[in-house]
Amino acid sequence: MTTIENGSGTRELAGKRALVTGGSRGIGAAVVRQLLDAGAEVLTTARSATSTAPVGATFVEADVRTRAGAEALAAAAQEVLGGVDILVHNAGGAAPHAGAAAIPDEEWQDALDLNFLASVRLDSLLAPGMRERRSGVIVHVSSAAVTLTPPPFLHYVAAKVALEAYSRGLAAELAPFGIRVNTVSPGRTATPGGEATREQWARLDAGPGQDTTTPPLGRDGQPDDIAHAMLFLMSDRASWLTGSNFVVDGGEFPRG
Ligand SMILES: NC(=O)c1ccc[n+]([C@@H]2O[C@H](COP(=O)([O-])OP(=O)(O)OC[C@H]3O[C@@H](n4cnc5c(N)ncnc54)[C@H](OP(=O)(O)O)[C@@H]3O)[C@@H](O)[C@H]2O)c1
Repeated sequence: MTTIENGSGTRELAGKRALVTGGSRGIGAAVVRQLLDAGAEVLTTARSATSTAPVGATFVEADVRTRAGAEALAAAAQEVLGGVDILVHNAGGAAPHAGAAAIPDEEWQDALDLNFLASVRLDSLLAPGMRERRSGVIVHVSSAAVTLTPPPFLHYVAAKVALEAYSRGLAAELAPFGIRVNTVSPGRTATPGGEATREQWARLDAGPGQDTTTPPLGRDGQPDDIAHAMLFLMSDRASWLTGSNFVVDGGEFPRG
């Protein structure tokens, strides 16, 4: 575990203790940076640290795909933060394949573990503390790709759809305890994982082509675009919001 001092800016979340999975790069790193700027104390995790991991947060190595990983992370959160007020399930992703039948069994399992069950396990470990304190915020990260259901990513999309349904149900269960649970669904966002996955997709010999149209707002998303929406959901400004899914995609998949 390493901690390096840093942080400035508005203090809307001063005194809050936040755990963000997958904070070493991409959207997760932007969320960690914005949380630090808002005054929160932050613990983040990935399977390995990188130079892009935000300075100022405590970093602990963990693999969230297993129950043991979730338990280790929950124990680290207790040790480092003394409890969690804000829980962000950001770690996610999957490699594309040339259609559903080409996705190996172990990758179906892996996609479910990373994109769905990791959140279920960590919530089950950390929500009880929030219930005792009768407050807390949980943010799950899905994907705007759920609207397209692209065949190369059916393992990923199926897991994210399960996550969205679970998130709605958990919101109803925890609302009486003052805990808010929402989902954020990013559109195409410029991150190391996102770019690498889209390159893999473009190289596939078979299977449907990817959607390369520019979103109506004229550009792909940046990690901070997604993090801004998440920070709003974590703040008291969103105190009457729970059980919702916020699609942040530059207008690519209009809903309502
Ligand atoms: N970028 C997009 O276009 C886009 C679009 C829609 C949805 N999303 C969603 O947004 C979230 C973040 O995506 P991103 O593009 O920022 O991804 P990214 O650049 O690949 O970053 C993913 C982060 O999660 C960590 N991670 C991956 N597997 C992990 C595991 N098993 N245990 C712990 N940490 C793990 C990674 O570190 P390690 O690899 O070192 O573990 C890294 O810190 C994901 O849930 C993704 O599905 C992204």
